[in-house]
Amino acid sequence: MGSHAAARPLSAGRSGPLSGRMRVPGDKSISHRSLMLGALAVGETTIDGLLEGDDVLNTANAMRALGATIVREETGRWRVHGVGVGGLLEPTHVVDFGNAGTGVRLCMGLVASQPIAVTFTGDASLVKRPMGRVLDPLRQMGVEVLARSGDRLPLTIRGAAAPMPVTYRVPMASAQVKSAVLLAGLGTPGLTTVVEPVFTRDHTERMLAGFGAAISIDTDRDGVRTIRLEGRPELKPQAITVPSDPSSAAFPIVAATIVPGSDIVVEGVLMNPARIGLIETLLEMGAAIEVVAERQTGGETLADLRVRSAELKGVTVPASRAPSMIDEYPILAVAAATAAGETRMSGLEEMRVKESDRLSAVANGLKVNGVDCTEGPDWLVVRGGPVPGGGLVATHLDHRIAMSFLILGFVAQSPVTVDDAAMIATSFPTFESLMTDAGASFRADEDRAA
Ligand code: S3P
Repeated sequence: MGSHAAARPLSAGRSGPLSGRMRVPGDKSISHRSLMLGALAVGETTIDGLLEGDDVLNTANAMRALGATIVREETGRWRVHGVGVGGLLEPTHVVDFGNAGTGVRLCMGLVASQPIAVTFTGDASLVKRPMGRVLDPLRQMGVEVLARSGDRLPLTIRGAAAPMPVTYRVPMASAQVKSAVLLAGLGTPGLTTVVEPVFTRDHTERMLAGFGAAISIDTDRDGVRTIRLEGRPELKPQAITVPSDPSSAAFPIVAATIVPGSDIVVEGVLMNPARIGLIETLLEMGAAIEVVAERQTGGETLADLRVRSAELKGVTVPASRAPSMIDEYPILAVAAATAAGETRMSGLEEMRVKESDRLSAVANGLKVNGVDCTEGPDWLVVRGGPVPGGGLVATHLDHRIAMSFLILGFVAQSPVTVDDAAMIATSFPTFESLMTDAGASFRADEDRAA
């Protein structure tokens, strides 16, 4: 819900070697899209391995409010009875997306090409995040928006009665903006075209094709992608198995890399090329990550990853890699804090508009734990070495800041405390239990509430 539950401070201290096999939850991006496309298909879509984190549960509730029937079986299988493209109903209450930026932005696209009014809101983090990046193209398609200044939540959208197909060049590296326009294009007659100068995660394109939409992608020699979607298709229900989220796998992968003597296997991780920039970077830093069993499922590549601890060295991460690891810089900065030498990261402007201003949250969290770093407008330099720790980290309602700094605690001389671990449930509800089973130690820390 929009209001935030009581903060739950948590500490992590030095941990012994991490070991064993683990499976992190389903991919968040694919989970949101499975529910949304399932809600627009004609018939029953089944979803196995759905991420049952708060962000995705909010999307499930939103799709119910828009008319889809969604049930979870005891086996963990989800069944979605879709209403068909153009068949969404006007909700009778405000649709609250909690902390979920992807959920709300994609849903705005979904309702844009139907003449229904929908009011969206979110938690204290989401109401601060920019929505204009999605509303701008949707306005071009005919959507009316009633919003407070600066296009922030809460806001009401009235979808277009006669939506117009557009050609939209995405001005920033954002899969959410691309996806919102494509989802709006589903209910729009004719051809909706999205031009994407910088390649971002392509789950929407892959899944639209899987659900039977007519979508084509041309990539020119500079890597600019032109995506064309024919509107008003009949989407065919699918049987989906959601692969494990590489952005969640990032936490145990870095933990096992930096905690001496560790040896773990993370099973069934999605290896989509638009998502594995962190693995590439860790390998350049000297990490011991082995791709054990690569296989194909539902148009995506999956692998088991064996990770053993290794001595890392600092590297320069090219700015061009940012879109393929945008959510992974907080945990990369933690790895960099333990590496020999300097790690330079650039092209980070999008980090400032995530669940928190992640660039400053990371820099401040490192500094209060005695790590030497310098923050620029869109860059970060971390100088690694032994980590003193002992700091209290402000997480600003950001799950990835909380998980990253708890992992820093595993190798710090004194325990690291985060002011609120409650938000971890938005994306990785099993984080603490999986890490504890692998050998990590956490301690609830009521005395250090912010
Ligand atoms: C996402 C896209 C990314 C990412 C977010 C999930 C998606 O955001 O940070 O966690 O599922 O499309 P942007 O597209 O805004 O960069």
